[in-house]
Amino acid sequence: MTHISSTKAVPSTGAIPKHVAIIMDGNGRWATKRFLPRVAGHVKGVEAVRGIVEACVDRGISFLTLFAFSSENWRRPADEVSLLMRLFVSALEKEVARMHANNIRLKVVGDLSRFDSQLQKMIQIAEAKTANNTGLTVSICANYGGRWDIIQAVNQLNAKRNTNGEISEDDLSQYLSMAYAPEPDLFIRTGGETRISNFLLWQLAYSEFYFTETFWPDFDAAALDVAIQSYQARERRFGRTSAQVAGPSSQ
Ligand code: IPE
Ligand code: IPE
Ligand code: MG
Repeated sequence: MTHISSTKAVPSTGAIPKHVAIIMDGNGRWATKRFLPRVAGHVKGVEAVRGIVEACVDRGISFLTLFAFSSENWRRPADEVSLLMRLFVSALEKEVARMHANNIRLKVVGDLSRFDSQLQKMIQIAEAKTANNTGLTVSICANYGGRWDIIQAVNQLNAKRNTNGEISEDDLSQYLSMAYAPEPDLFIRTGGETRISNFLLWQLAYSEFYFTETFWPDFDAAALDVAIQSYQARERRFGRTSAQVAGPSSQ
């Protein structure tokens, strides 16, 4: 299925965002504030993921995309990186059956070649098991970077084309790693920073941005509802004027 690009046509939008993308930030500070090791924040962060996945199912959201580990996060101390990898493995072990039972399709997006082969295998199995589920699609961005995504799409496009002609947005976007999803309607970053940190650079072109000071482990269904309420108060114009959006011939 291909989705309308927000820069090519005006996408249909509703009160409930179809696609919510979240930078889950603030685990470390959540823990430090409590005089706990950073790892405790990451453990709590996994619990918060479970709550938000359930909340998205309940609210009829179709796509939830979570930034779990960026291509730059390898720069962290080795013990934190290896703990995050172990947490990822244990979350897959614990959560995939439950997701499958709830008709959730799981995708893991990013350069997976850098993960150890056991983790890669687990990801493959989890994706295959849930591939035909028709409820919420949960995408976990792991070793993901927005620039990596664009470059890998360009490389795939190059390999398939033998002309040097100009390329269109559609030519390229079909190779982006989340081509199966519409562009995010609502982008949320927890933890107080107001930056994209190399998340979905292409796909966020017309997303509504919502930043909150709340640390990710504290981000619950009620906090999600506040973000959705903020989203609902926005006027998405996609380049048009406010009068066009409001008027009868607005499309
Ligand atoms: C987000 O929380 C989780 C990952 C990046 C893996 P952080 O670990 O970045 O938490 P802070 O920003 O240090 O508080
Ligand atoms: C962004 O958080 C990546 C994830 C949440 C996985 P960071 O905490 O790594 O972002 P920066 O480095 O502060 O921008
Ligand atoms: Mg952070």
